[in-house]
Amino acid sequence: MPENKKILGIACSALPRSNSMKLMEEFMRGAQSAGYDTEIIRINEDLLGCTGCKWCKHNDSFCVRYDVLAHYFQELPSADAVVLSFGIYMGYPQGEAWMFMNRHYCLHTGAVGGSCRIEPGKKFYTIISQGAPDNPEYRAHCEALLKPFDAWGFVREEPLVSGGGHFEEKMKEAFALGAAL
Ligand SMILES: Cc1cc2nc3c(=O)[nH]c(=O)nc-3n(C[C@H](O)[C@H](O)[C@H](O)COP(=O)(O)O)c2cc1C
Repeated sequence: MPENKKILGIACSALPRSNSMKLMEEFMRGAQSAGYDTEIIRINEDLLGCTGCKWCKHNDSFCVRYDVLAHYFQELPSADAVVLSFGIYMGYPQGEAWMFMNRHYCLHTGAVGGSCRIEPGKKFYTIISQGAPDNPEYRAHCEALLKPFDAWGFVREEPLVSGGGHFEEKMKEAFALGAAL
């Protein structure tokens, strides 16, 4: 049983009955059963974009924009894994997920691909909710969003995609994924 291991969840959906949030909560229940501390940060309100101010580059700092992600960047160095959940809008990950990805610009100390402010090797899970069944087109759009996380040293796990029904099965999968951390 791991000690003081922590998982940070970033939930993008604004919907009150969000499916991706339900799956995230189930994933976290699984992780708690395996002894992990968990925290979910809902980012649909008060989320700011990267302004390209380069404060992070000039001052060896995490992002100084003070919004819902300030707490995330404070906790990230000591977290063991990150879980990102979002819905598919117009065939693509919803906007909040792209802003979340963009804000990681502060993680590399120089140009993209340069050294990183966090230890490499944190696991990165993705939970995706959509109306349509899983399909290659949406997968490719999600891959475009997620690929930059490789350069920041995250180790990506296969996304959990829920769409086209079978939601209860996906809830079980989400729990099992968290429990297997
Ligand atoms: C603005 C909007 C656009 C959407 N576009 C798509 C789409 O292109 N393809 C699809 O399969 N589902 C689409 N959906 C359905 C959502 O992906 C689905 O409701 C999903 O569960 C949303 O995630 P959430 O429940 O966690 O908020 C759309 C929903 C909204 C609100």
